[in-house]
Amino acid sequence: MLSLISNSFRSDASTRLESDHRMPASESEIDVSDLSIVFDGAHGQVIAVDRVSFTARRGEFVCLLGPSGCGKSTLLNAIAGFEQPYAGTILVSGKRITGPGPDRGMVFQQPHLFPWKSVRSNIAHGPRMNGKTRAEARAIADDLIAMVGLSRFANAYPHTLSGGMQQRVSIARALANQPRVLLMDEPFGALDAQTRAIMQDSLLKLWSRISATIIFVTHDIDEAILLADRVLVMSAGPGRILSDITVGLPRPRTLELTLDTRFLALKRECFALIKEQSARAFDAAESRS
Ligand SMILES: Nc1ncnc2c1ncn2[C@@H]1O[C@H](COP(=O)(O)OP(=O)(O)OP(=O)(O)O)[C@@H](O)[C@H]1O
Ligand SMILES: [Mg+2]
Repeated sequence: MLSLISNSFRSDASTRLESDHRMPASESEIDVSDLSIVFDGAHGQVIAVDRVSFTARRGEFVCLLGPSGCGKSTLLNAIAGFEQPYAGTILVSGKRITGPGPDRGMVFQQPHLFPWKSVRSNIAHGPRMNGKTRAEARAIADDLIAMVGLSRFANAYPHTLSGGMQQRVSIARALANQPRVLLMDEPFGALDAQTRAIMQDSLLKLWSRISATIIFVTHDIDEAILLADRVLVMSAGPGRILSDITVGLPRPRTLELTLDTRFLALKRECFALIKEQSARAFDAAESRS
């Protein structure tokens, strides 16, 4: 029996795949317009995000790439509704964002699971909070557990799982409310290289089955190009979008693609931008200290 979540994901996924080439450029899922975010720091105000504008189409995979401290997490948190704009607006599905909501799922660098709940209960928690019955929430959880390849571990507790497995649970949990948008803040940053490669591959497979628009933050150029439809390269703080690079490499993508000459050309382009920005960020930090 196909359960609730697969059905809706599959029907949405087919809509997305069909519409990918036909959707007009103006049909955006996320619309960030002239967004600035300012914090009160110990030495005065810090402009974390400086007049950033970009859009992401429905079902698009967009990576935010930039040096440490450039405002990637702040921008992502603002889309999640955790940070309020100082100026500018964020629209998701045409609706202005004023706080968190189930239309946006978030995955952090660390898994942040409930340690006292099993894998299944961690994933079922969101749907239960959103009014699903116990049976419905369990069906949703079991479907997602299968999608992330953890069926054997449905009753396991987080501390008994590896870091990669815990992060799979986090992704499944973020997808449990069937969000239109999945926001991922360096979700594989804490994993070893081999686990990371496996996770990238399974995320791409998962994404091909769902309809979510993904905004994925990373420091890693290879990761950004391998995953994304577009890479937004950010400047050293205050964060601005320096370049909007369309990847355009065929899907499905595998690790071998990283040896392709087109991949290497994109990597060189990103590397040149990031190198300059990282040097600027380092100099700015030095001059402040
Ligand atoms: N709550 C806060 N209060 C004050 N300053 C903050 C706060 N959060 C972030 N900042 C500052 O905003 C800037 C952007 O931070 P942010 O965490 O968004 O960067 P980042 O690009 O995600 O960095 P990293 O790659 O290291 O995670 C930094 O200068 C940081 O010190
Ligand atoms: Mg960050």
